[in-house]
This record gives sequence, C-alpha cells and structure tokens, in this order.
Amino acid sequence: MGGEMMEEEKEPEKEVNGSEIFKEFKEYSVVEFFKKNRQMLGFAGKVRSLTTIVHEYCTNALDATEEAHILPEIMVKVEELPDEHVKVTIQDNGPGIPPSHLGKAMGMMLAGTKFHRYMQQRGQQGIGGAGCTLFSQITTGKPTRMRSGLGDGKVYECDMKIDVKNNQPVITNQIEFMGNFRGLRVEAEFAEVKYDKSEHGVYEYLKRTAMANPHAQITLIEPTGEKHVFQRVSDRIPEKPAEIQPHPLGITTGDLVDMAHRTDSRKLSSFLTNTFSRMSSAKVEELAKLVPTVNFEKHPRDLKWPEAEAVVNSVKTLKWIAPPTDALRPIGSDQIDKALKNILAPEFVSVSERRPKVFRGGIPFMVEAAIAYGGNSGRARSDEGRGGDIIRYANRVPLMFDGGSCAITEAVKNIDWKRYDVRDFDKEPVTVFANFVSVHVPYTGTGKQAITMEEEIVGEIRYAIMEVARDMQVYLRGKVREMDKETKKKIIMRYVKELSADLADLAGTGAPADIEKKLVNMIETKYEKIEGEAEEAVEEVKEVEENEKEE
Ligand SMILES: Nc1ncnc2c1ncn2[C@@H]1O[C@H](COP(=O)(O)OP(=O)(O)OP(=O)(O)O)[C@@H](O)[C@H]1O
Ligand SMILES: [Mg+2]
Repeated sequence: MGGEMMEEEKEPEKEVNGSEIFKEFKEYSVVEFFKKNRQMLGFAGKVRSLTTIVHEYCTNALDATEEAHILPEIMVKVEELPDEHVKVTIQDNGPGIPPSHLGKAMGMMLAGTKFHRYMQQRGQQGIGGAGCTLFSQITTGKPTRMRSGLGDGKVYECDMKIDVKNNQPVITNQIEFMGNFRGLRVEAEFAEVKYDKSEHGVYEYLKRTAMANPHAQITLIEPTGEKHVFQRVSDRIPEKPAEIQPHPLGITTGDLVDMAHRTDSRKLSSFLTNTFSRMSSAKVEELAKLVPTVNFEKHPRDLKWPEAEAVVNSVKTLKWIAPPTDALRPIGSDQIDKALKNILAPEFVSVSERRPKVFRGGIPFMVEAAIAYGGNSGRARSDEGRGGDIIRYANRVPLMFDGGSCAITEAVKNIDWKRYDVRDFDKEPVTVFANFVSVHVPYTGTGKQAITMEEEIVGEIRYAIMEVARDMQVYLRGKVREMDKETKKKIIMRYVKELSADLADLAGTGAPADIEKKLVNMIETKYEKIEGEAEEAVEEVKEVEENEKEE
C-alpha cells in the first residue's frame, strides 16, 4: 500500500475586509497592459507574430508615403540569427519622422498623428510601432535601431526601448550625420517568431499588400537570401485622403461633451456648425426649437451632460443629408482587375463598383468586391483540388487572421451560393476579394484583423459580392452550355455525314452535300434556342435578388 495522499487539514477561511484587499490596489500603464496581453496586438503564435511586425511597419510606411505624396518603395529583410532569433529590417522612402518626435512615435503607446483624424488611413490607434518596439524588447531584451531622414541632408539614428512602467521612450546611442537618406529605417531583433511561406506568413502578406497597392514597390529578402520584388504596376500615387468632419448622426453624448469642452469656438451654435458636417445655421435653429431648455448662445464649455444628451437625441429625429463621401479612396476596379489577373491568372474575373454608404448613421464607407474563377483562384485543398478562398482588406490592408469573426467572411457565408451555380463554396476554384474602405474601420480588436459584424456593413458587403457572383454565374452557365453543346454536337455530327448519304440514297434525289448542309443548319438553330433559355434563367435569379433587397 502507501502512496496515498493525506488531505491537509485546513482552517476555516475568515472574512477579509475591504481595506485589507485594497492594500493590493495598483495603477499600471497601457504598456504594462499590452505586455501582459500581447495577443491583443497580434503577437500570438510564431508565424502570426512575424506577420504582425511586418504589417505594422508596412502600414506605417504606406500611410506616410501616401500622406507625403511619394511613390512608395519599401524594403523588408528577414534574417535568421543564432538562438532562433530573427532580425527584421524595414526601410521606406517616406517623409521620415523628425528626431523630436521619433521617440514618442515609436517608443510610446497611444501617440501618433492619426487617432484624432477623421480620415481614411491604415493606422488609427497609435499603438502599432511602439508595440513592435515592446515585443522586441520583451523577447530579446534588446533595443530597436531607428534611422530617420527628412531629406534635408541630415540623417538621425538612435536605439530605442520603452520604459514599460511609464509608457515613455528611452533613447540611447544617438548620432546625426550628413547623408542623402530620406524615410524611416527600423532594425529590430525578435524571438518567438518564425518565418515560413504559409498562407499566414510574411510572403503572402506582402503579396496581398502589393495586390491592393499597385503603386507600391515592395522588396522582400527572405532568410535564405532569396529576393522577391513585387513590382509596382502603376505610377499613379493615390490621391491624398481628405480629412472630413464627423456627421451629427455618428456622435454620442460623450463625444459631444468632450468636443464641446475642447473647442476654440465661443458659442455652442458656432461650435456645432464648425465641428460637424451638414450642420448649417438653419439646422442649429431647428435643433434649438426641439430643445428649448438649452441656450445655444452660451459657451460650449458650459454644455452639461443632460443638455448634450437632449441635443444628441434631437439630432436623431431630424432629417440630414448623408455625410460627404469624396474622402473615400477605393483601389478602383481597373486596378483590382489587373491585380487579380496578374496574380491568380483566372479564367474569369468580375469587379463591382458600388456607391458609398453610411454606417452608425454618420460614418461613410464603401465596399469594393471582386470574384475570380479558375486558374489559381481559390485555395489549395488537402485532397489536391481547389476550394473557395476569401481575401479580405480594410483600407487596402490585407486582413490575414481572425477571419471567423469578420464581417466579410460573414457576408460570404450568408450568400446562397447554389443560386449562383456554385454547389459548394468550399469545393470550387473561386476567390472572393473584398476591400472595406472607410474613415473609421470598426475593428473587433487592437490586432486590427477583423471588421465588426454590424448589420449595415455585412449587408452592403453581401450585396457587393452578390453583384459579382451574378456575373460569374453567367460565365459558368455559358461554360456549361458550351461544353454540353460541344459534346452533343460532336455526337450528332458524327452521324450527319452517314445520314446525309443514306437519305440521298433513299430519296434517290439531291446531293448528299446539300442534305448535310441543311442538317447542320437545323442542329445549330436548335442550340441557339437552348442558349436563349439559359439567359432567361439568369434573369430570374436577378429578379429574386431584387425582391429580397426591397424587403
Ligand atoms: N514609416 C513612417 N514614416 C513616417 N511616420 C511614421 C512612420 N511610422 C510611424 N510614423 C508616425 O508614428 C506614429 C505612430 O505610429 P503607430 O504605428 O504606433 O500608430 P498609428 O499608425 O498612428 O496607428 P496604429 O496603431 O493603428 O498603427 C504614426 O501616427 C505616424 O505619425
Ligand atoms: Mg501604425
């Protein structure tokens, strides 16, 4: 016997009072929070972590070059070091970051030029760059080397770490020298990351980035030394995205109070007209009538919460012109068509062009969708065949992870694919492409990999995809028809010659060649009739969709 565990006898637990518990009460910084919850920044899993690093630096480079109106040239180099460490070097030809701001930009969280803007950009949180500095530091203990040049002949370099407790940059080894470098170059070492060529890896990420940014020249140097250049296919720099004012229907009471307390305007009325789009003096007057208890002549600083609440509630009862949508910068159907043909070499492609819409009452957005069939479309399945694939983008940034909780995936799932002659989406060589464009992308988390499933968003994405699915259906029907026709025709034609000779023989008159010609004519006419019927069937599907929309 023996080996039996004895239960330790425990004293009954005593009640603990609040002041005892609150001796443990502590404050901590946002960096400490993300250090503990790094998965929220996308640092989970070795392959995903490396893709996240490249993604953060690349989106920054594309944003910066776009804002500075420069044709982007981005170089990404991944090297494998001893001890399973990986070195990542990324260089862009953008405007650079002034030395005075470099520390806060890359060594402090919740700091940047984008958060307070209402503008279509890839970054929006002010976390990405510093997140990478932190991840390098917590996996290797090393600082990140930065080089920045503004193109004025001076180049600045430094090492950077983050003071985790205080969310402050720690800069060492600064040097400044003369040189022609313009842009930002970041060199950082990481552990717990891995380079591979899977569909979630850096190679695929950059390939997809190139597809949605045909104006960018992206070079990747792999750990093997192999160099891939994703050539720029267009010299047209996308127009600089415009900053717009928020729409009254998109604001909450809290927003209104905060903005009112921060404004330079002296009156509530002028604050409203200066801050929001579509807010004319006439509209303010209408509002004033609806909430007579609020004095619109007073200083915005004196706006109280209940008053702001009354204003926001009344805003919802008024009719508004939709927000301006000219700030949205889609990729464009020509470019998408070119990119998909270039990369997937499909049999068929269709791209939809839809008008901008609004979500949450006041945030403009737009969906670009495309479908590709055949060739290298779809994803390789384990059984050698190809199955349906979805490539998701938000403001031209490929979304590679968390597909299951994304509005784009949901929209694809909500489509009755049989209606479009796709029996099983997972078993057809189809690629669905969707780019969600907005001044504010409602991501589900700080990792920015999935778009929230709000009804108006999922609905619009679904319609955009249905539009191109319909084109594909026409193509597929045509193909099936063509095949049917060819085989049947072949079989019949095989007998036409013999039959003509026999007929001529039987009748005793007419040349076999003439009879043959007539028979061939009859067969051709019959197949044209079948073709007409198929087109009618496609029209029927269209009608079903229209009815659904009206509901
Ligand atoms: N390559 C770059 N060239 C010029 N400026 C840059 C570059 N990278 C970053 N910046 C500046 O540093 C700021 C911080 O970058 P960071 O990636 O941390 O945040 P963000 O891009 O604003 O938002 P997000 O967290 O969503 O990425 C940016 O807002 C931008 O002003
Ligand atoms: Mg960023």
